[in-house]
Amino acid sequence: MNTSLHEGAELAEQIVNQFNIARIGDAEVILAPPLTHLYRIGEIIANRPRLHLAAQNCHQAGSGAYTGEVSASMLRSLGASFVILGHSERRQYFGESDELIGEKVKAVLEADLRPIFCCGEGLDQREAGRHLEVVESQIRTSLENLSKEEFSRVVIAYEPVWAIGTGKTASPAEAQEVHAHIRGLLAQIWDAEAAEACTILYGGSAKPNNAEELFAQADIDGGLIGGASLKADDFLAIIHSVPGAQANV
Ligand code: PGA
Repeated sequence: MNTSLHEGAELAEQIVNQFNIARIGDAEVILAPPLTHLYRIGEIIANRPRLHLAAQNCHQAGSGAYTGEVSASMLRSLGASFVILGHSERRQYFGESDELIGEKVKAVLEADLRPIFCCGEGLDQREAGRHLEVVESQIRTSLENLSKEEFSRVVIAYEPVWAIGTGKTASPAEAQEVHAHIRGLLAQIWDAEAAEACTILYGGSAKPNNAEELFAQADIDGGLIGGASLKADDFLAIIHSVPGAQANV
C-alpha cells in the first residue's frame, strides 16, 4: 500500500525505460502494483517483452455480491497475468488461512491466471526449528489437491516472515535449505518433472547487495521484491543480477 497512482506510474516508467533485456538471460519480470495502479501500469508495459503484470490479492469467488472485493477474472480484464496469494501480510492482518488461500489459488487458475503462492515461517517457528514443517504444511493444505496440469501454472515464493521488510535476510544457505525441501516435497506430491519445472522465488529483504548470491543457489529461481522495488535503481540492480542461464521469474 505504497505510492499514489502518479508516483507508481512514474516508478514503472523508470523501470521499463531502464530495463536492459540483454542482461536478464531468459528471466521474466513481473510488476505487482496496488490494484488501483494495475490498468495504468498495464498500459506502460504493453508490448514490452518479458514484462508482466500481477495483482497482490483477489477474492475466491468467480463473481457475485461481495461488495468491495475483486475477482480473478476482473484482474485478467485489467491485463494481469499473475496474482500474488497468501502473502504473510494477508495471513497476519486479514486472517487468511491455508484453506482460504487454496480456494483463491483455484479461482485464479480457473480465470486462466497464474498464482504466485507465498509461504514461510514466523520467527518463533524458525527458532523452534519448525520452518521446514511449517512450509510443508502450508503447501500441502493449499496446493496438494491441484492436478499436475494445474500445479504447472503455480509459482511458489518462499518468504520467511521474519525477513519481510525487516532488513534481515535469510542467508543464502538458509534459503536454499527451504527451497530444496520445497522442491523435494513437490516431487513427492506430483513428480520430479513438476518439481523441476516449478519456479521457486525467494522473498524477504532481497536487495542489490544480496540478490546475486541468493539467485546463485541451486533451487532459488528468482525473487519477490518488496521494499527495494520502490526504488527504480535498486529494483533494476536486482533484476539485472539474475543469472542469465536460469528460468527466473
Ligand atoms: P521486502 O518484502 O523485500 O521489503 O522484505 C518482501 C515482500 O513483501 O514480499
